[in-house]
Amino acid sequence: MSSYSPEAMSDFALRVRKASITEWGYRRAVEMVGAAAKFLDIQKTIEKVASFNEPVLITGESGSGKEALAQAVYLMGPRRGKPFVSVNCPQYVEGNLTVSELFGHKKGSFTGASSDRRGCFETADRGVIFLDEIGDLHMSAQVMLLRSLANGEFQPLGSEITQSVNVRIVAATNRPLTQLIASAGFRHDLYHRLCYFLIRVPALRERENDWFYLLEHTLQRLRAQYGASRRFSQASLKMLEDYEWPGNVRELISVTTTGYALADSDLIEPQHFMAHLSEGPPGSEDPSHDLYRRMTSNGGGFWELVHSPFLDRTLNRSQVKALIRQGLFDAGGSYRQLLHVFRLPSADYQKLMDFLRHHDLKP
Ligand SMILES: Nc1ncnc2c1ncn2[C@@H]1O[C@H](COP(=O)(O)OP(=O)(O)OP(=O)(O)O)[C@@H](O)[C@H]1O
Ligand SMILES: [Mg+2]
Repeated sequence: MSSYSPEAMSDFALRVRKASITEWGYRRAVEMVGAAAKFLDIQKTIEKVASFNEPVLITGESGSGKEALAQAVYLMGPRRGKPFVSVNCPQYVEGNLTVSELFGHKKGSFTGASSDRRGCFETADRGVIFLDEIGDLHMSAQVMLLRSLANGEFQPLGSEITQSVNVRIVAATNRPLTQLIASAGFRHDLYHRLCYFLIRVPALRERENDWFYLLEHTLQRLRAQYGASRRFSQASLKMLEDYEWPGNVRELISVTTTGYALADSDLIEPQHFMAHLSEGPPGSEDPSHDLYRRMTSNGGGFWELVHSPFLDRTLNRSQVKALIRQGLFDAGGSYRQLLHVFRLPSADYQKLMDFLRHHDLKP
C-alpha cells in the first residue's frame, strides 16, 4: 500500500473513463478508482445489467459514488450517446410545476405557460433518466411517476394526447426505502417498479485500502492541475488510515484537496486538513452548535440556514434532525413553541410541519 497502484483501475474502470471522455469531454470523465473486492463485485454487476432495459436502483451512503455508478450503467450500455437526464427528486413537490418539469406542458395549460414545453421524460427518450434522491420524492409525484412507469406513457399538462417514451430508469437514494415504506413515506408498488436490479454501494470504510488509492489518485490530479508535487506525511496517513470517512469518497476528495492547498511545503501534515474531517479532531466543538446559535438569534434563519442547505444537500438529515431535537427541547416539546424558538412567524407553522413531515425530519 506504499505506492499508488494502477491496479486500482480495473479494466472496467478504464473503459468507463474512456467512454465518459468521448461522451462529455475531459472535464467530466467518470472515475471508478478502487480495488476492494466489494467494489469490483459492483463493477461486474454493472457490466452485466448495463445492456438491459429494466430499472436499476442504487443505494448507498451520501458521497459513496451512486451518481458515478449510475453514469457507468449508462456509459456501458446501448443507450450511450443518447440523452442522460438527471432529475433531482427533492425539488419536486405537489402541483403543476412538477407535472410540467417531468412530463411537459401545453401552451396555456396554466398561468405563465406561454409556450409548449418538453418534460424530462420526453427529453430522455431513448436514453436514461437518472432519478436522484428518489427517497425524497413527494407522495403526489410518486403517484405520477408510478403511472408512467407502469405503462411507459405520460400526458403533458393540458394535453389530451398520451405520449409514450422509451427510457431506462436509474434511481439512487441514501435513504432506507424499505423503512420509508413501513412508515408510509414511500410507495411499495413504486419501489418494486424501480428495483429490478439493486446495487448497494458499500461505504468507503468497508472498502479495504480504497481510501488510499483514491487519495493518491486525487493527489495526482491536483499535481497535474496545480504543479506542486505535494504528498501526505506518515503522520497524516496514519491518522487517515484510522478515519471512518462518514462523507465517503466526496469527503476524501475534499480533505485531500484541502490538505494540498493548505500545506506549507511539499509535506501535507495533519494540521492542514484535520479541521475539515467531518467527525472533527478529538475535542473539537460540534459545528451544529454554532448553526443553532445563529439560527435562533436571527428571524427567518431557519429557512436560510437549514431549509435551503438541506435541499442543496450541504446539511444532511441527521444534522437537521439534531437541530430540531435541540429546538424541541428548548420549546418544551411543542412544535408551535418551536416556531418561537426558531424566531419564525406563527404563519410559518404549516410550512414548517410540511417540510419536516415530507422529509421525515421529525426526531
Ligand atoms: N470510485 C470512485 N473513484 C473516483 N471518484 C469517485 C468514485 N466514486 C465517487 N467518486 C467521486 O466522488 C464524488 C461523489 O460521488 P457521487 O456524486 O457519485 O456520490 P453520491 O453517492 O451520488 O453522493 P450523494 O449521496 O451525496 O448524492 C464525485 O465527485 C465522484 O466523481
Ligand atoms: Mg448523488
